[in-house]
Amino acid sequence: MNILDISKDIIATAQRPLDQAQTLPPQAYTDEAWFTHEAEHILRAGWLCAGHVSQLKQPGATLPLDLLGEPVMLVRGNDDVIRVLSRVCPHRASDLLLGGEATGCHVAGSVLTCPYHHWTFALDGKLMGAPHMQGAVDFNKAEWKLNNIRSAVWEGFIFVNLNDEAPPLETYFADFTAIAAPWQLAEMELVISMDWDCAFNWKVMVENWIESYHHIGPHSKTLNPYMPAQDTWTEPPNGAFVYAHLPMTGRDAAPVREAIASGAPGTGFLPIPGVPVERQGEWNLFVGFPCFMLLLARDRAIWYRLQPISAERCRLTTTTLVSRASLQAPGYAQTLEAETKMLFDFHVEDMQVNEAVQRGLRSRHAVRGRLSQLEEPVWQFHRLLAAQMADFR
Ligand code: FES
Ligand SMILES: [Fe+2]
Repeated sequence: MNILDISKDIIATAQRPLDQAQTLPPQAYTDEAWFTHEAEHILRAGWLCAGHVSQLKQPGATLPLDLLGEPVMLVRGNDDVIRVLSRVCPHRASDLLLGGEATGCHVAGSVLTCPYHHWTFALDGKLMGAPHMQGAVDFNKAEWKLNNIRSAVWEGFIFVNLNDEAPPLETYFADFTAIAAPWQLAEMELVISMDWDCAFNWKVMVENWIESYHHIGPHSKTLNPYMPAQDTWTEPPNGAFVYAHLPMTGRDAAPVREAIASGAPGTGFLPIPGVPVERQGEWNLFVGFPCFMLLLARDRAIWYRLQPISAERCRLTTTTLVSRASLQAPGYAQTLEAETKMLFDFHVEDMQVNEAVQRGLRSRHAVRGRLSQLEEPVWQFHRLLAAQMADFR
């Protein structure tokens, strides 16, 4: 299958009604040429979530990140504005970080220094110093800077658009904003963060994140006793995100239901004030297209940051955010430890199935499967993918 065939196939597949829905062609998850196409027209063309404001508290705070081959860094400036700067030095193109994103970024005296010839930059990217350049005729420092990459902050999450073509994030996520507003996500603190190297396609991760049919499989002992697969349901499609509800109707969720009914804090972190009672008794699960994975619960938000790398590889950071008041609650340290373990345990269950899926997709025996009605979120994700691709046929 060439790129055009894969593209036509995805568009045709997404047109099938839910009761006829099937999986995408396996090549959409394994073919490098297709990944390159998708990276250009889906990922760089969309809004990718890179960080949360609580990760950049003070002026001079930085968060480096390699995104689709672009070395970038999130920086809070002296003016308190968060910018996304290219890490590519305008002198001889060195990455400002010798070891890439993993090394972190040292800011001394509000100045970023390139390790190669020590050109220095202000936190907004302007060139401050360039040693021994007096012999370069017409060299004007004001003309040289680190590129500012288009970014936007949505409810405290910092998004990047790598090709300047995405619609304004505010407009794109307008309906999403209305749903998420009660959680006051911009006021939350990111307290758990774990990195994962993933041997699977980015869409395998997104599809696994957004459907809960698999609670009966890998999560049969962890999540299913709280949120049984058969009770999950999905909001009607919209043009920007998928929204699935995971009601806590299971046997093990009885204490949570009682706490909500009586207004007691219950287990876990402190409940977030203002979350409507009808939203408290469920996990509210979202994918903001293309790959912003967010879960909103009574006492926390879970956010998965995705960095697609190649057809069969991505990096993932699994995080949890809680209210500031939670940090002061009695027993916070024990709660944090228990909830970190909970996030780790159920994510390991997902890692194993995702790797198993990728091995299957690579096989010559991979077939086009049919979807359950419980996989409506996957069907909706495919429709968003197809709608975006239809513009590039
Ligand atoms: S490459 Fe950055 S100073 Fe030379
Ligand atoms: Fe899962």
